[in-house]
Amino acid sequence: MCGIVSYIGHRKAVPVLIEGLEKLEYRGYDSAGIATVLDGRIWCEKAVGRISVVAGRVEGKNIPSAVGIGHIRWATHGRPSDINSHPHTDCSGRFAVAHNGIIENFAELKAELQEKGHEFKSQTDTEVLPHLLEELYQGDLVGAVRQAVARLEGSYALAILSSEEPDKIVAVRKDSPLVVGLGQGENFLASDVTAILEYTRDVYILENGDMAVITADGVQLTDREGLPIQREIFHVEWDPVRAEKGGYDHFMLKEIHEQPRALCDTMAGRLKTDHVELAEVSISPETIKALPKIFIVACGTSYHAGMVGKYVIEKLARIPVEVDFASEFRYRDPMLKPEDLVIVISQSGETADTMAALREAKRVGSRILAITNVVGSSVAREADDIIYTWAGPEISVASTKAYTTQVLSLVMLALYFGQVRGTINHEEAEELFTALRLLPEQVETILEQATAIKTIADKIAQNEHVFFIGRSIDHGAALEGALKLKEISYLHAEAYAAGELKHGPLALITNGVPVIALATQDDVYDKMLSNIQEVKAREGYVIAVANEGNEDVANFADEVFYIPRTVKAASAILTVIPLQFLAYYVSLARGCDVDKPRNLAKSVTVE
Ligand code: AGP
Repeated sequence: MCGIVSYIGHRKAVPVLIEGLEKLEYRGYDSAGIATVLDGRIWCEKAVGRISVVAGRVEGKNIPSAVGIGHIRWATHGRPSDINSHPHTDCSGRFAVAHNGIIENFAELKAELQEKGHEFKSQTDTEVLPHLLEELYQGDLVGAVRQAVARLEGSYALAILSSEEPDKIVAVRKDSPLVVGLGQGENFLASDVTAILEYTRDVYILENGDMAVITADGVQLTDREGLPIQREIFHVEWDPVRAEKGGYDHFMLKEIHEQPRALCDTMAGRLKTDHVELAEVSISPETIKALPKIFIVACGTSYHAGMVGKYVIEKLARIPVEVDFASEFRYRDPMLKPEDLVIVISQSGETADTMAALREAKRVGSRILAITNVVGSSVAREADDIIYTWAGPEISVASTKAYTTQVLSLVMLALYFGQVRGTINHEEAEELFTALRLLPEQVETILEQATAIKTIADKIAQNEHVFFIGRSIDHGAALEGALKLKEISYLHAEAYAAGELKHGPLALITNGVPVIALATQDDVYDKMLSNIQEVKAREGYVIAVANEGNEDVANFADEVFYIPRTVKAASAILTVIPLQFLAYYVSLARGCDVDKPRNLAKSVTVE
């Protein structure tokens, strides 16, 4: 997730761009850059690091230009660096582009343009755009943009500036957000309103396929065919703080709602019609076929994703998997061999315990595959192979979209390994591909039922003990649900494999004690029903999470929250959503600081 700001009007553009990008830093802070037109040419200033680096470089330069585009980057393709920073320009220096999203077919476009002699400077997907414009421009910038965009596959919010036509900025939107800010004798573009609230509260919210041509005097909106369109002017009532959260009360709620997009982006360019492509994983098919064992090491929520990963990899790829807390791994003298694969999972990519486990694995000589959300993080730099979860910055301490994209990445990896090893047949693969593509839409349907969860949350919020139970993959999801609840609401929440209840934990179930029973796994459903009845027999209060259509469970549980049905391998991605909401609303009801819970940090860089 990146941030775009653009300006055209009567002010000096550079200060407007810098201030706007500062307000978008929560969208990404790997690098930043601005472009304007000076003496008939594109002029760029861009650098790795926070926007303050660029601000320092332009301070006092008093650049007169009244038009410009700016970008703040959360890296996806190409590590954070000066040269990978946006805006990107073409060989001739006449076109500058700022982009938020993922161009899935950038590799083939890049090869085609290189064939035609274009020289690329960066490793980014975005850089294909200015070179496409250079190739297509014949005196009509808008027409060239329309042709270029027609070649793109993937998601994009674009701001395009050209020294050939410096009196306009062209914007296009597909899947990544973009708004047009409307001023008097000036107009703006921004990834969200936070960046421009100081100048205007009247915006057009662009929709997929919309193109906007903004000048100092006006805005022309057209559809992808170039036909004029009308959009309602939206008057923004939010204050800047609320605007930064996209109108949500907390970053956690915003990030829960970002999961459909995050899942789409994480699949983008990887989930092909009938196979998985993991560009940053270079393990040979021979090595994959010979893999004797996989170790997964991580902490907290990432560890819980690893627990689900164990089920999924063993089921789909038939490779034995051990999952370890990173903080325990190197102290138990693990029976790790050089031919084993170690998967390291870390949202931040900086967790000290996880880094220490990674280095222990490297000492043994094992291959390291990192699943991380931060391009260029310590974990990414030291791993042999990487799968990035393209979830965008996760600000709230409680991890949500990172978890679901981590599980998705593990499912894609298991699918990839399974197809290489021949442990999945064509029908099973077909079913998995179909199910994964459906996930974002299914998550959306769960997000629409947040109010139902809030009702349940308000009923249990004053309890001091809550238990989560599940079997098979639901046990992995239960662990994550318990962590979410305890870390942001401070009540005691514990997860158990449901079959373990009778071996001790059942002694804790008394009248009214809430038990969240995850009952989505058909193969162990009858056993789960027995566990629910065990709890009910001790007068526990059972809140079941079950698949849509399962009317039976309502005869046993006090409350039921239904989720769409999906394949076993992907089920934790859906099951966890109501548990995220439950934690969020219980935390609210208990007056806790949802985004910054006591005693905790977003990235634990100490052991
Ligand atoms: C999860 O909500 C917590 N923020 C915490 O358990 C976190 O998952 C853990 O510290 C690991 O962080 P990482 O994924 O950045 O390594």
